[in-house]
Formats: sequence, C-alpha cells, structure tokens
Amino acid sequence: MRFVSRRLFEKALARVEAGDFSSYIFQYPPMAAWDTVPSDAEVLSAWTEVAAAGRSPGLYVHVPFCKTKCTFCRFFVLEDDSVDSHEEFVAALEREAALLSPRMKTASFSTLYFGGGTPSLLSERLLARTFSALRRSFRLNPDAQITFEANPEFLTPKKLAVLKAEGVNRLTIGVQSLDDRVIARVERTQTNSAVASTFQAARSAGIPYINIDLMAGLPGQTTSSFRETFDQVLSWKPDTIHINPFAPTPFTRFSQRGGTRTDADVRRQRAMQDYAGRRMRKAGFRDLPHDAMAADPAAANRQLEESVIGGNSFLGLGIGAVSRAAGRLRYVNVGSLRRYSQETAAGRLPIQKGARLTPRQNQIDFLLNRLWYGGVTDADFRAAFALSITEAFPDEFKRLEKCGALRRQPRMSWSVHPERQRAYFEIKRALYEPEIIRALTRPSTA
Ligand SMILES: C[S@@+](CC[C@H](N)C(=O)[O-])C[C@H]1O[C@@H](n2cnc3c(N)ncnc32)[C@H](O)[C@@H]1O
Ligand code: SF4
Repeated sequence: MRFVSRRLFEKALARVEAGDFSSYIFQYPPMAAWDTVPSDAEVLSAWTEVAAAGRSPGLYVHVPFCKTKCTFCRFFVLEDDSVDSHEEFVAALEREAALLSPRMKTASFSTLYFGGGTPSLLSERLLARTFSALRRSFRLNPDAQITFEANPEFLTPKKLAVLKAEGVNRLTIGVQSLDDRVIARVERTQTNSAVASTFQAARSAGIPYINIDLMAGLPGQTTSSFRETFDQVLSWKPDTIHINPFAPTPFTRFSQRGGTRTDADVRRQRAMQDYAGRRMRKAGFRDLPHDAMAADPAAANRQLEESVIGGNSFLGLGIGAVSRAAGRLRYVNVGSLRRYSQETAAGRLPIQKGARLTPRQNQIDFLLNRLWYGGVTDADFRAAFALSITEAFPDEFKRLEKCGALRRQPRMSWSVHPERQRAYFEIKRALYEPEIIRALTRPSTA
C-alpha cells in the first residue's frame, strides 16, 4: 500500500483546518470534505434508529454569542451581545428542539452540554426558557451530567442560581490567564480581580463539579505569568483543571492578523504544561482519559468521553452545532442567526451540510478520536465493530508502529508518541482515504 506524500498531505490538512468552523478537526471525514446536504427525512430516520437502539446519546447546545472575540479563540463565535439576538436564538432553538422531539421520545440522553461561544452571556430569563424547551422536547437520564461553559465576566449569582435550579452539575469556567497584561493583549473581556470571587460564588451556589480552563502559550504570556495564574487557580481547589495549549488555527484572529510563533514560544508553552502537570500530580490530581486532570474522576467531561471519544451518537442543537447520528451521519447546522431562525420558522432542520459515513469511515473516525486523546485498545475497537484493528488496518498500523507515531503496549493497545502533534500528522496521513485526500486537494474545494 502506498501512502500520500508529506507535501500533498500538508496541503490537505491545511484545508481541513481552514474548512472546519466547528474546530473539531479530528472528525472524519473532515468537514472540509463534506459535500452532502442530508434531507430532514434522512436525519430524522437516523435519530429514530438511535432512539430505538436504546443507547443513551449526548445532547449538545451551541450558543455562539460572545461580547467580543478573544484573539486566541479558535471557535465559531458571533460577536453579538444584543438581547434581541439572544431572544431570537432561543426562539429558534425551541423550534429546532420541537422538530426533533417526536423522534427522540424513547431516547434518554446521558449528557447535556452547553458550549460556545459564551452560554453564560444569555440572561437568567433566557437560560430558564432554554432549559424548559429542552425538558419539554427531550428526556434526560436521572443521573445525566449537565455541563455549562461560562466566562467569569458574565456569570452572575442570579445566573448561577438558575443553573443550579436547572440541574447543572458541572460548570466549566474559562479563566485562561489571571495576568491583566495577557488578558488585554488577547482582547478578552475579563476583570481578573473578580474571577476568584466568581469561582467562590459558583462553589457557594452548590454546583457539584467545577472545571477551570487555562491556556498555555498565549501571546505575551511568560512562564512566570503562567505559573502565577496556575498556582492561584490550584489554591481555589477546582475539581478539574484543563490546560489548553494555544493552537493558532486559521480561525483565530491571531493567525488572521499574521501572527506566528517561534520554536522558543512552543518550548515555553510545553514548559508551562509540564509545570502544571507536575504541580497537579503533587496535589493529588490524576490524568483523565482526555487531556485534563482531575482531583475526582467523577468531575470528568462525560460527553467528551462517551460521545466524542467513545463513538456514541450526539445531537447538536444551535447555530453551527455538529451532530453525529447512528455512526453513519455527521452534519453541521447553519452558521448565521438569520438562517437558523428562517429554517426553523419554515419547519425545516437548520442543516448546512453533512456527510454519510461508510462503515470504514466510521472506524477511521473512531480511531482518530481515540488516538487524539491518547490511545486505543483492540478490545474497544472489537466491541464497537466486531473486528480487530490489525485485521481492519494491517498496513496502516504496521507503518505507524514502524515510524514511532504509535507505540504498541501489552494486550493489543496503542498509545500515541508524546510528540503528539507530529505523531498525529502521521496517524492522519496513514488513515485518511485517497478519495478524501483528493477531495481536499482539488482546486475547486479551495
Ligand atoms: C468555547 S471556549 C469557551 C468558553 C468561554 N466563552 C470562555 O471564554 O471562558 C472553550 C475553551 O477553549 C479554549 N480555547 C479557545 N481557543 C483556543 C485555542 N486557539 N487553542 C487552544 N484552546 C483554545 C479556551 O481555554 C476556552 O476556555
Ligand atoms: S474564548 Fe470564549 S469568550 Fe473568548 S471568543 Fe472564544 S468563546 Fe468567546
């Protein structure tokens, strides 16, 4: 079997990064190669199948609004803090949920995740309205994990009370840095002096688990600035801390304005991650199966574990939300408030485009997700596909072991080389199918 040249594959991956506004660049086939608009009937039939199968899917709500876009942010964001827009969004979300609801009557979701953007930008009234629309349309398991992403700037005690009353049991607060100079440099709306009291207010509200997101390697961030932030955050005793290494994708303002990073910047970023890892291990935190560490593993992001890494279906609602149904359909919602509103008002699902997955593509998707988060075992693959990895991908895995991107461990499991970015490039190069690479490198897809 021949593998595509490095050069051509770099070109293909550049398209993957530039063409995926969900920032979910390890999904397969990648969004940049999606060329289908699945019909509502097809989507609804896939969800009927998921509901009938009796496995609990995940429910995801994408709230795309932010007051301003931070220069480092790689997510799909609409800079819009007007209450009218938020109101229009929630009304459309109610309609989208109602369109899907009849097919999901027998399904019971194991997770509900509000991501963004900034879900905490919605007012108390709109938050309560959103929860009641979701409860009207869908059923949650009694022990469902309900996660809510918040920016500390907009997380008031009143909103915390609504979240607690609505059953949010995991709050993830984006702090990024407590250094005023860094916050100003990345053009983020955040008053650092108030962040600690916001965290304490969240604790007092009685939300069981709190995660803090920090970033390593931000523009203008020095190692000592990172350490100071990290030490302070650790002293608050959050349940998990997620250190996100800055990824300057084409969707960041940093890259759009021509920002680049030197090798020294990347080395500094690694030093920050290493420092945080050491300190957390010493404080009794443990590695989770994805790239965060927890004082209590029950605080882990279950939607990430079950749906994104675990291969379960997840239903995405909201502007720009991605869904995966029954291992055979992936699609993304439209990316503007106007279209989201129009489509749902006309009684149509607000889908922009999607892809029908072949069984092999579903297997590749499973492997790419698992391997991005550290590793895969043959037992997991067999449980999902009744087939051994080495039967399904003999040449690919042999080659990946040979070049060192994958390390074979006892009992047929593989872990990714610690130089994860470089190893992951080779993993994708080995697993991407020729027709997908062709679609990504065709001039017309530029
Ligand atoms: C959807 S964002 C947001 C939550 C919330 N709006 C906030 O800013 O606090 C989720 C997390 O992604 C991380 N993030 C954003 N852009 C990133 C990038 N370019 N590289 C790595 N992590 C990033 C940040 O740590 C952020 O907390
Ligand atoms: S990091 Fe959060 S607040 Fe900043 S632009 Fe991204 S989603 Fe919005």
